[in-house]
Amino acid sequence: MTDDILKVLIEEDAIAEKVKELGAKISADYAGKKLLVLGVLKGSFVFMADLIRAITVPCEIEFMAVSSYRSGVKSSGVVKIIKDIDINPQDYNILIVEDILDSGLTLKYLKELLMQRHASDIRIATLLDKPARRAADIQADYTCFEVPDEFVVGYGLDFAEKYRNLPYVGVLKPEVYEK
Ligand code: XMP
Ligand code: MG
Repeated sequence: MTDDILKVLIEEDAIAEKVKELGAKISADYAGKKLLVLGVLKGSFVFMADLIRAITVPCEIEFMAVSSYRSGVKSSGVVKIIKDIDINPQDYNILIVEDILDSGLTLKYLKELLMQRHASDIRIATLLDKPARRAADIQADYTCFEVPDEFVVGYGLDFAEKYRNLPYVGVLKPEVYEK
């Protein structure tokens, strides 16, 4: 598995430190507010598990699963909901947790959907931000790391459902996804 990794981009320790920092910031910002932490499956699950344990204010947890009809490594912008949240998000302050903000099309769609359902406030926390590829007008409110325009895996992020269990974020060798 590690033979497919070109280089380690973000070490396990650096991720842990940043996630703690972000958790403290989020806790301060949401003190006294009705907080719903909403993970976007599957990519966010590792980040989400670490982040919520760094959040020290009360919060509820939900997950959504979406598919963005990507062809290979590119997003098409068409989003399909595979699994919806189990509650009515009205009056919640929602923090959407994503693994990576790439084109931004998935998050733009989700944000609009939750706004239509009358959430009080919607913010985005992302582990990684790849601003070079942005197609939609959307920014994260909380970002751990900015990454270059390379295909990255690990710490929840996959290629063809593999590499999610790597404890670090690494760049995949192009020959792996080009074959
Ligand atoms: P958009 O383009 O809508 O897509 O912002 C976000 C989703 O696309 C996936 N994605 C990646 N997954 N390495 C991955 O493992 C990458 O470099 C990458 N870029 C985008 C990811 O599922 C994310 O939630
Ligand atoms: Mg994802």
